[in-house]
Amino acid sequence: MMDLRCGVLQQTPLTTGYWSLDLTAGKLADAARPGQFVHVRVPGLAQASLRRPFSIFGAQDGILRILYKTVGRGTEEMNRLRAGDEVQVIGPLGNGFPLEPKGAPVLVAGGFGVAPLCFLASRLSQKGVLVVGGRTSDDVLACEAFEQMGWRVLVATQDGSRGETGLVTEPLDRVLGELKAAGQTPELYACGPDGMLRAVCERALAIDCRGWLSLDKHMVCGVGACLACVQNLRRADGSTWIGRVCHDGPIFEAREIVW
Ligand SMILES: Cc1cc2nc3c(=O)[nH]c(=O)nc-3n(C[C@H](O)[C@H](O)[C@H](O)COP(=O)(O)OP(=O)(O)OC[C@H]3O[C@@H](n4cnc5c(N)ncnc54)[C@H](O)[C@@H]3O)c2cc1C
Ligand code: FES
Repeated sequence: MMDLRCGVLQQTPLTTGYWSLDLTAGKLADAARPGQFVHVRVPGLAQASLRRPFSIFGAQDGILRILYKTVGRGTEEMNRLRAGDEVQVIGPLGNGFPLEPKGAPVLVAGGFGVAPLCFLASRLSQKGVLVVGGRTSDDVLACEAFEQMGWRVLVATQDGSRGETGLVTEPLDRVLGELKAAGQTPELYACGPDGMLRAVCERALAIDCRGWLSLDKHMVCGVGACLACVQNLRRADGSTWIGRVCHDGPIFEAREIVW
C-alpha cells in the first residue's frame, strides 16, 4: 500500500453524470490488481471524512484511471479537479479478483460497477461475456472497451433506452442457460448495486459455481481501522465472523456472504 501525491492528467466526461479521471500514480498504478481500489483524498472536503473509495478502472504505464459518478459532495469536488492539480491517493487497497477462472467468465456489471470489471477483463487469463445493466443508457459504460478486447457484451436497461428492456438478470439467465446447454460451468464476477449482487449470489449457489462479488460499503479509513464497513461473513465450516470490506474484501465469494 502506498500513500502518494498524484498529478491529475485529465478528466473526461463519459455519459451524463459519469466521468473518468486519469492520475499519474507511478508505482501505485504498476502494483494495482483488478478488484482493488484507491482511497482518494478529495480537496475541499471537511476534516472528518476526507477520502472516498474508487475501484481501479485501469492501470497502465504508471497511469491510474478511475471511473466515477457524481452523487454528492465528494464526487462533485472531485469533478472540479483539472489537469495539473494534485490529489493524495492511498492504494492499491483490498484483495482483488482471482485471475485464473475455473469456468467460463461471466461478468455482471451495474452502473459504475463496470469499472473494476473492465480492468479485470484486461487481465483475465480467458475472455468471456459481460452482462451490463442500468436504469438508463447513461448508466451503461465502457461496453466498447470490452468489445475491443474481444468480449461479448449484452446490455439491459430498465427504461429500454439501450439494449433490451428490463433487468440485467434476464440476459444473465440466458447466458447461463447457453453455458449449461454447452456443458460449461460459469465463473461469475459481479460489481453493482446490492440487489444485483444478491441476484448473482443466488445464481452462483443454485448452479454451484464460483461467484466473486465486489461489495460496496460506505468507508471512512479504508484500511481496516474504523469498522465503518463491517459485513457478516461465513467460513467454510459454517461459523460466522464480522469482516471489514476494505481490509478483508472488497471481493468475497458468494458462499462467504451473510446477507
Ligand atoms: C470499494 C468501493 C469501490 C467503489 N468504486 C466506485 C467507482 O469505481 N466509481 C464510483 O463512482 N463510485 C465508487 N464507489 C462509491 C463511491 O465511493 C461513492 O459514490 C462516493 O464515496 C460518494 O461520495 P460523495 O461524497 O460524492 O457522496 P455522499 O455525499 O457521501 O453521498 C451522496 C449519495 O451517494 C450515496 N453513496 C455514498 N457512498 C456510497 C457508496 N459507497 N455506494 C453507493 N452509494 C453511495 C449516499 O447514500 C448518498 O445517497 C465505490 C465504493 C467502494 C466502497
Ligand atoms: S473503512 Fe474503516 S474499517 Fe473499513
